[in-house]
Amino acid sequence: MPDIDGIKEAKNFYTDRPQTCEGFFLKGSNSLDWGIKNRLARIFNPQSGRTVMLAIDHGYFQGPTTGLERVDINILPLAPYADTLMLTRGILRSVVPPSTSKAIVLRVSGGASILKELSNEDIAVDIEESIRLNVCPMAVQVFIGGEYEKESIINMTRMVDIGNRYGIPTLAVTAVGKDMARDAKYFQLACRICAELGAHYIKTYYVEKDFDTVTASCPVPIVMVGGKKIPELDALTMAYNAVQQGASGVDMGRNIFQSDAPVAMIQADGAVVHQNMTPADAFDLYRSLKEKG
Ligand code: R5P
Repeated sequence: MPDIDGIKEAKNFYTDRPQTCEGFFLKGSNSLDWGIKNRLARIFNPQSGRTVMLAIDHGYFQGPTTGLERVDINILPLAPYADTLMLTRGILRSVVPPSTSKAIVLRVSGGASILKELSNEDIAVDIEESIRLNVCPMAVQVFIGGEYEKESIINMTRMVDIGNRYGIPTLAVTAVGKDMARDAKYFQLACRICAELGAHYIKTYYVEKDFDTVTASCPVPIVMVGGKKIPELDALTMAYNAVQQGASGVDMGRNIFQSDAPVAMIQADGAVVHQNMTPADAFDLYRSLKEKG
């Protein structure tokens, strides 16, 4: 209880200065509630408007992926350079120190493995668990055109409804079946469906041709997925092209943790995303950081 004796009289009302109401920096997100915006502002850097998500959730359907065999040894040293860590609750609880200040992107869909039909997912984490773990977005895989298309879409809309109740955003992850064409037309369709049905932001693949039409036709932020390991310069070029064409950041896993020098690679990636560094300069940065060890 504050001391109420000798209270100073309130006098600084600034009556000549109207209270301002600033718009929220993130595309399509201005009408969201405070808690969701606050969480999004932990994922996306408010200065650059972009994010570097480090994706390490591959084990949820494919087991110990190359580079992720020991998350404690290989991944924790990369965390300081990422804006967020995308992972499962199993890895979060067992390996990641609760003292981390990184925003946590929690994978909440699951139930399928590489041995069976991958689109046959369900919601695998209760909302109470996401609240308890203080996560930022909850990530749900959506398989447009897949065998379990409808079920995966409904998984996503359920999480949007539940998350909205508690101020937790939902990230829709567009998954592409082996036989589907990875082109702008497909990703326009997949991203737009996810956004129309309430996803707060969307993770999708980069395509060489017309990626800008995918970002332009999606009313909420898009984050580019890294995909299979490619040479470092190519990965940095892909990240550069994606953000220059409207992506609000990258979600990279294998192109970072399977790199010859993951700590150097994630820093070079961050320079591309947050500082618009060109691929050539970022590759030089990667090489010099790699040499320094
Ligand atoms: C995989 O299922 C996850 O969604 C990954 O988070 C995503 O594919 C990004 O990782 P990578 O850059 O290795 O493709």
